[in-house]
This record gives sequence, C-alpha cells and structure tokens, in this order.
Amino acid sequence: MSQQIKPTHGQWSRLVFVLAATGSAIGLGNIWKFPYITGEHGGGAFVLVYLVCILAVGIPIMIGEVLMGRRGRLSPINTLGVLVKEAKASKLWKVIGYSGVLAGILIMSFYTVVAGWSVDYLLIAAQGGLQGQDADSIQAIFDNLLASPGKLLIWSSIFTLMTLLVVGFGVQAGLERAVKVLMPGLFLLLALLVGYALTLDTFIQGVHFLFDPDFSKLTADGVLVALGHAFFTLSLGMGAIMTYGSYMPEKASIGKTVLLVAFLDTLVALMAGMVIFPIVFEHALQPGSGPGLMFVTLPIAFGEMPWGVPLGTAFFMLVTFAAWSSSISLIEPGVAWLTEKGIARWPATLGIGLLCWLLSIGSVLSFNLWSGEQYQIFDTNFFDAVDWLTANIMLPLGGLLIAIFVGWVMKDSHVRKELQMKNEALYLVWRVLIRIVAPIAVVVIFASSLGWI
Ligand code: PHE
Repeated sequence: MSQQIKPTHGQWSRLVFVLAATGSAIGLGNIWKFPYITGEHGGGAFVLVYLVCILAVGIPIMIGEVLMGRRGRLSPINTLGVLVKEAKASKLWKVIGYSGVLAGILIMSFYTVVAGWSVDYLLIAAQGGLQGQDADSIQAIFDNLLASPGKLLIWSSIFTLMTLLVVGFGVQAGLERAVKVLMPGLFLLLALLVGYALTLDTFIQGVHFLFDPDFSKLTADGVLVALGHAFFTLSLGMGAIMTYGSYMPEKASIGKTVLLVAFLDTLVALMAGMVIFPIVFEHALQPGSGPGLMFVTLPIAFGEMPWGVPLGTAFFMLVTFAAWSSSISLIEPGVAWLTEKGIARWPATLGIGLLCWLLSIGSVLSFNLWSGEQYQIFDTNFFDAVDWLTANIMLPLGGLLIAIFVGWVMKDSHVRKELQMKNEALYLVWRVLIRIVAPIAVVVIFASSLGWI
C-alpha cells in the first residue's frame, strides 16, 4: 500500500530547494535549445508565445507540481498513490508518475549527447583551438564532431557517469555545494558575453529578432514547440520538480520559490539569445540552422574576443555543469521510485543509467551512421524524434494531467494548506489558471498543431 511506504529521501532547506530546482531548470534548454528553436521559428512572435506559456501555463503548473510532491513526500508514482487515496480518486492517475519516469529516461538519452558536445568544446577551447578561426572552420569543427560516433559516445558516456555518480551518492551531497558556486558563475559569464555582444554592430538587430513579434512567421507547429519548451525549460510535466518538491521543507512558500526559479530560468534563456543572435547576424549565419547554432556561434566569439581562451573554457565548463545539475533531476524520479521498492540506491541508479545509455546510442548514431532516410522516424532522425516526442507531447500531456489533478481532483482545503497563500486574490488567480486556462491552452495548442482547428 502506498501509504505505508516511508520516504527515505530526507529533506532540504529552502535554499537547497531553490538551488536544486534552479539547477534543474537552467540547463541546455536555456542556452542550447531556446536560441535554436527561436531561430527556427522566426524569432519575436515565438518568444512572445513562449513567455505567455511560461506565465499562464508553466508557472501555475510548476506550483501545482511542487505542492503535489510536498504533500505526497514520495517519488511521483507513489506520491500519486498517496494523493489519489486522500482524494478517493482512481489509481489510474498514477500514469502521471509512470509516464514521467519514462520521459525522464528518454530526455536523458539525448541530453547526455548534447552535454557531450559541450565537454568536447571545453577541451577544444582550453587548447586554444577556437582562436583565429573563421566561421567556416568553426562549422567544420562541429561537423567533424558529429561525424565521429566514437567521440560522441565517449563524451556522452562520461557525462552519463558523472550524473550517475551524483545520483548514486544521493542528490544533496554533491549538488548543494556545486550549484551554489556554479549558478552565479554561469550568470556572471553570460553577463560578460552580453557585454561582448553589445560591442557588435549587429546587437540591435539581434534584439529586434528576439523581441519584435512578426506573427506571419509563426506556425501552429511553432506554437506547440513554444509550449513544449515552456515545460522543458522549467523541468515540468515529468515529475522532476514533483520529486524535488517532496524534499522541500514544510515552511517554505511554494509560490514565491517557484516565481524566483521561473524568473531566473527565463532570464538566462533571454540572455543566451541576446548573445547568440547578434553573433549570427554579424557573421551572416542562419538563425534557423538547427541544433548546432550555439556550437557554431559562440566559438566564433571566443575566437576573436580578448581573453577568449579562459573565457571560452570557463563558459563550456559552466554549460557542462548546468547540464549536469539538470540531468540529475531527469533520472531522480525513477531512482527514487526504485528505492521505495526496496532496491538500494546504487543498483537503482546504475539500472536506470544503463537504460539511458543504451538509448543514447540511437542519438549518437543519428548524426552519422543512422543519418540516412531509411532510419528516420516521423520524418526525422532518432535524436530529433525523441526530443520532439518528449518535449512537445509527453511533457505537455503530463502537465495537462497534473493541472487537472491539482485543479479538479485534489480537495481545495488540502491545496490551500500546502500553498499557505496569504493573498486570497492571488490564490484565486492561480486557481483559475490551473483549473481552466492551462488545461484549455494545452488542449487547444495540441488540437491546432494536429490541424483539428
Ligand atoms: N530544464 C532542463 C533544461 O532546460 C531540462 C529538463 C527537463 C530537466 C525536464 C529535468 C526535467 O535544460
């Protein structure tokens, strides 16, 4: 019976929760993915829809996910078990937990590959390999990396092992210290890079691209990608934030904490955009060139700016760390669930890790041996297909179910008790968002991307 399962995971202080949740949210999604999907979907209008999704859908659901976790105090699957009992609802709701564990494993499988690119670039930058290169030779560095399955697999395997190490020891031990130093460091370096972008003649052009909405460039698919990214970047819809919520102390205010995490996350994404797009225009590159965007623009900047070697090295190191503090939260829900079944933490971690690693081979091969048409799924390669399926389908669907569960299934009195919001008006605004606005937005965006409306 789920109520008899004892939480074995311990509890965090509010500061550790904020650091861990920010560490989970800020990652490759902000620095690598946000700029390239913004480029692919035409800029300003996409960014606007993304920001609206963060405010109207992401933040309300994040509050819901944290409160579910804190009330259930277990892994997402068993938290749902506790909450359905309390609400006398169907056990079928546990599907939120199961699909979350699966989504985490799937995301992890391509996330480690991109994190591996960052490790490779860290070494190239440290050896001065980016200095004095033109845009073409920088592009060649990236193309060569993708063409080498061995290199890709080694870096992604090392990154997977790094993640397993932290999760195996328990999330708090390593994470707390690392995140405290690294998050401010990443922020500082990004601020420096924005300073560099300001010196380019194309800075204003980049800012216009990011913030001037041109709705003629936005498609129904673009709106779905913006919604999916709001979930991806806030680590929502798959139980990561729910799991962290289950470690959150009783006294901390959920609303304020979530607002802070979402604010920092959005800020980092917009800063990354303000660095990358001016460089794109300065060198007449294509904003819509795809997943390589960050890896061909920033190296050009590091190659030509003063102090480019230490700054470039530090930057790719920080990106690797940011990815690290996110990847931990991708597998933690599954590992926590297995430990609640009585499996020791290390074997649980290794088991999930092995599954992610096996799947990651598919992503590695997508760029070389399996790049041919005969290997395509949904008209694209394995890497893109897994990214697309998780971010644009599984996370919004998980988020929809979470919104319905918190908004309609849980008792209002229980929800109020967890949230402890002093301002009744704000509570009602959140209530309308999670019961009505967020679910309708997800359903409408799904329907329109399928061409139903
Ligand atoms: N939020 C992380 C990022 O932006 C990715 C992530 C998604 C992490 C889902 C955990 C859960 O990179």
